[in-house]
Amino acid sequence: MAEHHVCPVWIGYLLASPTRKLFQNPRKILEPYVNESMTVADIGCAMGFFSLPLARMVGPNGKVICMDIQERMVRSLEKRAQKAGLSGRIITIVCNNDSLGLDDFKGKIDFALAIGVVHEVPDPARFFSEINEAMKPAGRLLMAEGKSFVSETDFERTVSVAEQNGFKAVDTPQIKRGRTVLLQKKL
Ligand SMILES: C[S@@+](CC[C@H](N)C(=O)[O-])C[C@H]1O[C@@H](n2cnc3c(N)ncnc32)[C@H](O)[C@@H]1O
Repeated sequence: MAEHHVCPVWIGYLLASPTRKLFQNPRKILEPYVNESMTVADIGCAMGFFSLPLARMVGPNGKVICMDIQERMVRSLEKRAQKAGLSGRIITIVCNNDSLGLDDFKGKIDFALAIGVVHEVPDPARFFSEINEAMKPAGRLLMAEGKSFVSETDFERTVSVAEQNGFKAVDTPQIKRGRTVLLQKKL
């Protein structure tokens, strides 16, 4: 089977850099979808550029489930969460290409985020189906891919895989340098 490219750890440090906020501000991107006390998931979280703002937005009664296939990304996120005093709101999972490890969260997730990850996933159908099972009815998944990594045609193909696995596309919000779709779990 062909090897799948996975974002190297050194890029993880760049992705977590505060300068990224100048063109991708997590709070502005996420505030239409995230409220206090929600259970949210950051899939392919890397070192937590989005996970820590999510943890602030859900507040002390909310939870952020963060998963990544690279243990070093997850450990770095845990350190950053601890430093920010947010560990109590963050659950981390080192997952693998066969499972996101969401068995304990079936039907519990209000909102999920998959930024820059699906093009690294060998089986997107399985990936969307597992996320779908973990979502509450009408729960929403914001998916984005970098324009320089994923062509419009490939992105559209990925959206149709999501639509064949329990989601419908409901919006196309703008994220700078990204191709973006808001998906909703079909009722
Ligand atoms: C380009 S990075 C994006 C990180 C983060 N979402 C962000 O925007 O800063 C992609 C991340 O997805 C992770 N990844 C790749 N395949 C995955 C999979 N099957 N399940 C979960 N995470 C995966 C990689 O390890 C990497 O940390």
